[in-house]
Amino acid sequence: MTPLKPERAFYITTPIYYVNDVPHIGHAYTTIAADILARYKRLEGYHVFFLTGTDEHGQKMEKAAQERGVDPQTHCDEMVQRFQSLWQRLNISNNDFIRTTEPRHKKVVQKVLQDLFDRGEIYQDVYQGWYCIPCERFWTEKDLLEGKCPDCLRPVIEISENNYFFRMSKYQQWLIEHIENNERFVLPRSRRNEILGFLRSPLEDLCVSRPKKRLKWGIEIPFDTDYVTYVWFDALINYVSGIGFGSREDRFSQFWPEAIHLIGKDILTTHAIYWPTMLRAAGLIPPQTVFAHGWWTIEGKKMSKSLQNVVEPNRLIDVYGVDAVRYFLMREVPFGTDGDFSRSAMVHRINSDLANDLGNLFSRALSMVVRYFDGFVPKPSLPQAVDRELEEVSKKVFPQVSRHLEDLAFNKALASIWEIVSAANKYVDETAPWSLAKETKDRPRLGTVLYQTLESLRLVALLLAAFMPSTSERMWSHLNVEEPIWGKNFEMDGTWGGLKPGAKVVKPTPLFPRIDPASITL
Ligand code: MSP
Repeated sequence: MTPLKPERAFYITTPIYYVNDVPHIGHAYTTIAADILARYKRLEGYHVFFLTGTDEHGQKMEKAAQERGVDPQTHCDEMVQRFQSLWQRLNISNNDFIRTTEPRHKKVVQKVLQDLFDRGEIYQDVYQGWYCIPCERFWTEKDLLEGKCPDCLRPVIEISENNYFFRMSKYQQWLIEHIENNERFVLPRSRRNEILGFLRSPLEDLCVSRPKKRLKWGIEIPFDTDYVTYVWFDALINYVSGIGFGSREDRFSQFWPEAIHLIGKDILTTHAIYWPTMLRAAGLIPPQTVFAHGWWTIEGKKMSKSLQNVVEPNRLIDVYGVDAVRYFLMREVPFGTDGDFSRSAMVHRINSDLANDLGNLFSRALSMVVRYFDGFVPKPSLPQAVDRELEEVSKKVFPQVSRHLEDLAFNKALASIWEIVSAANKYVDETAPWSLAKETKDRPRLGTVLYQTLESLRLVALLLAAFMPSTSERMWSHLNVEEPIWGKNFEMDGTWGGLKPGAKVVKPTPLFPRIDPASITL
């Protein structure tokens, strides 16, 4: 393995999820995407920090705890485990997990607030307007849709109270220029245009406090203890508190501002407007990229508790297996667009791409090595044109996958990897190793063909490691590659010829058993 180059730092985050929610496919989607990038960058030799966590303050948490008759902290401590255990089952390789109720986070929020207040970036004023309790958001008269919350269409209440405001409007021009000068700050492009469009209207200052008489469960405002912090102001700061802003400056400066925030399209405004202006006011550089992905519908319908169609990842894993879930979500639709989750699409993908194209090829190749070479990887002899063609495909695919992942085009990256799988299937069909074994008893040629096939599968395993970590590990151990896949590096190990002749392969078990569509009820 080549030594890590410390200057190549990569910081990837997910939103911190409301701890109250039952983790669903939307949460899993972003977290899997972040995990793939983290794992891939590690294999590219980057020094990676991958952060996820939970958003634990606010009215919803306070109310849910009250209803259960427990204090909010106990409630959060219990709820957070559902996310943590799901991430374990999904093989998520986060470096840390930040909870907004942790002292390390609260300290940073209070430090930022105090600093902004001391410098006049936060001021007190009377707030008059409309408030949506479920969304915990203030709206002005003109924001309302037929007198209701424009986000959730539920009734709002009118309020007038003293509050603290962050001078967000002051940064409007700076933000427009920042977005215009940094093509990759808001992605995809359509979202960037959406934000620039939004910024054509005047930006208002942001109310960052909530009076304790209305909400107790929050981070106390350090300069006025009658108030707690607005939950979004609190939550966004996780991206810097989680890597040591104000406590571990060495680590913070290693990773900030090389950050990529993955989020869903519904929380773009908070990430592309509130967050960069907050950072600017605090004297920090905005993150490199905020990427807003699309939403999943379920069998053509919006996912909602009332429709009882919330797709729970744990149940999906039980039925289809963890890597099939990871694969499907990333392969089915481009990351920036909406997609539909359907049972038939999932079964089709698993059966065709995973069981058939990849799984069968792997089993066939290993079985022949076991049968004709007692399980020892044969030594290749002089390559023919057809052998070289297969090598060329894998050579071409490595840079393609990296490029697609730079663009967060997970589906294209997987399609590129499948170019090797298809080329290897075609190669096996054309070279017909079973005939070589039967008819000519041409062992050197048969050995070359099987070596080439297994070597292409070793490279597929390496490329797939970020996407389907346990499948890659299984492939790796079947091929009896001694060093663990995670110690590998694309630069060193991604070149043709890494498979050691003489290694003893393992008799295959199916990587992905075929699923009978009739047997699935989920
Ligand atoms: N707590 C805030 C985020 C704070 S980040 C500083 C929050 N949490 S959330 O629990 O509601 O989770 C949100 C994430 O799930 C968002 O990125 C949202 O887009 C995503 N999804 C929720 N439903 C979804 C789908 N149906 N499909 C895809 N993603 C979806 O917002």
